[in-house]
Amino acid sequence: MFHDKVVLITGAGSGIGRHLALAAARGGATVWVTDIDHAAARVVAHECRELGAHARERALDVTDAADCECAVADVVAAEGRLDLCFNNAGIGFAGEFRDSTLDQWRRVFDVNLMGVVNVAHAAYRQMVRQGSGHLVNTASLAGLIPTPGLSAYGASKWAVVGLSHALRLEGEGLGVKVSAICPGFVESNIYSRTLVAGLKPDATRTMAPFPIVPVEGLIARVVAGLARNEALIVYPFYARVLWWVYRWMPWATRSKGLAQVRKIRREYRMAE
Ligand SMILES: NC(=O)c1ccc[n+]([C@@H]2O[C@H](COP(=O)([O-])OP(=O)(O)OC[C@H]3O[C@@H](n4cnc5c(N)ncnc54)[C@H](O)[C@@H]3O)[C@@H](O)[C@H]2O)c1
Repeated sequence: MFHDKVVLITGAGSGIGRHLALAAARGGATVWVTDIDHAAARVVAHECRELGAHARERALDVTDAADCECAVADVVAAEGRLDLCFNNAGIGFAGEFRDSTLDQWRRVFDVNLMGVVNVAHAAYRQMVRQGSGHLVNTASLAGLIPTPGLSAYGASKWAVVGLSHALRLEGEGLGVKVSAICPGFVESNIYSRTLVAGLKPDATRTMAPFPIVPVEGLIARVVAGLARNEALIVYPFYARVLWWVYRWMPWATRSKGLAQVRKIRREYRMAE
């Protein structure tokens, strides 16, 4: 998967992005570790070098479209090409729609959707010029099934899934593969950083309606899925089951969704 590949990862200073960077380093890739948090990117690039890989760090805020273009140009200037781009950077947002502000919606869409578009716009077109490459967008299980209490986050991730499906078809015949990763709840720093609207402190972690699983299993599943050029990589097993049930028996997920709404109101929503 990674041997001799040139790999660019956004949001690689933490969590899933960091583990993707380490997997790419172990696999023999040249890894460009980028993050809005330059110091975090520097630490992860150092970890990659300790594994024997050639790694570079770079500050990159994915909401800055011009800098996304520059980052891809930097990779190509230094390495000659871009083989794999993990469009991974993202932020969480939790709370009922009625408690959210439009500024919060704009921020979530700016990072989770436009950030993905900004990076894809630069990376995908470079891959088209090369006639090869794999663009990997991180969506979420929240982009496949209804997620009450996560409406802005879920909406941004449904959009990433839609973008990925369309680009995958456009990329066929141009030599560019496109996949989307749809994790359920995975261990990372996202829970402590999630923006919230009208929820009690620390709600974001404990309100998760399904188990939070270790990140290592996701990374192994992603590597296997990309090797098979899967369109959607859905992990863990409960996420695949929920996605299947929602597609074929959407009514069966309704009671679980309504139970989650009741739980949020009973245990996590702050009194008005
Ligand atoms: N952890 C989960 O349960 C889970 C589930 C589904 C999807 N995801 C998605 O996985 C991706 C990675 O999340 P994570 O769980 O590793 O979270 P994380 O908070 O551990 O890591 C996210 C990284 O993105 C960076 N980042 C945030 N805003 C950025 C910006 N504007 N530009 C560049 N970098 C930015 C952060 O600095 C951080 O290093 C996100 O897209 C997230 O939505 C996570």
